[in-house]
Amino acid sequence: MTQDEMKQAVARAAIDYVVNGEIIGVGTGSTANFFIDELGRIKDRIKGAVASSEATAERLRGHGIPVFDLNDVESLAVYIDGADEITLQGAMIKGGGAALTREKIVASVARQFICIADGSKLVKLLGGFPLPVEVIPMAQSAVARSLKALGGEPRLRVKDGKAVVTDNGCNIIDVHGLQIADPVELEAQINNIVGVVTVGLFARRGANIGLLGTADGVKKMTF
Ligand code: 5RP
Repeated sequence: MTQDEMKQAVARAAIDYVVNGEIIGVGTGSTANFFIDELGRIKDRIKGAVASSEATAERLRGHGIPVFDLNDVESLAVYIDGADEITLQGAMIKGGGAALTREKIVASVARQFICIADGSKLVKLLGGFPLPVEVIPMAQSAVARSLKALGGEPRLRVKDGKAVVTDNGCNIIDVHGLQIADPVELEAQINNIVGVVTVGLFARRGANIGLLGTADGVKKMTF
């Protein structure tokens, strides 16, 4: 089974968690994209979706799925999204697609977070994947110094020779070389650095359910 086939399998399995007649919170990334394509097939069963990025909103609309502004929605039954890393406790690193802030916001109003990922994302200790931190552009250097003091190696995310700009007009610093023994504590610590918009640690509010794609099929983890 290829990685894409595993992503497709978990995207399909996640449809079981879609609640009829409800608005669904939808994440960002290649696994979320497979999920959106599956959601397109059953779109008549749902009222619509709240998107965690402009890219996701565009893909949802492309399938004819109504996209709601989060300000018009009080709560969501489920939020379904991928991850860059996930532990056996359901803590995650997210933000490889630079959508971490909106992902965290949409997830925060959902009663259940369903994480869909291929099995390679399961880790014992978070930090092998560089930790994304969204920052206010003018605070970039100051935040980088604080992140260095925490023991990481901060690098501004650059694409095609330019700093990546998020949907919120901010930049991303990827922190390399961390071994995150206490993700809840580190999430609070980094969120407290002035100039940080969001850290891509989803530990205080982790996943409720993980659907992991493996060669033996989709494995379910409940946290
Ligand atoms: C985007 C994310 C994604 O969920 C994460 O990067 C995983 O992406 P993919 O499904 O492409 O492996 O956090 O900001």
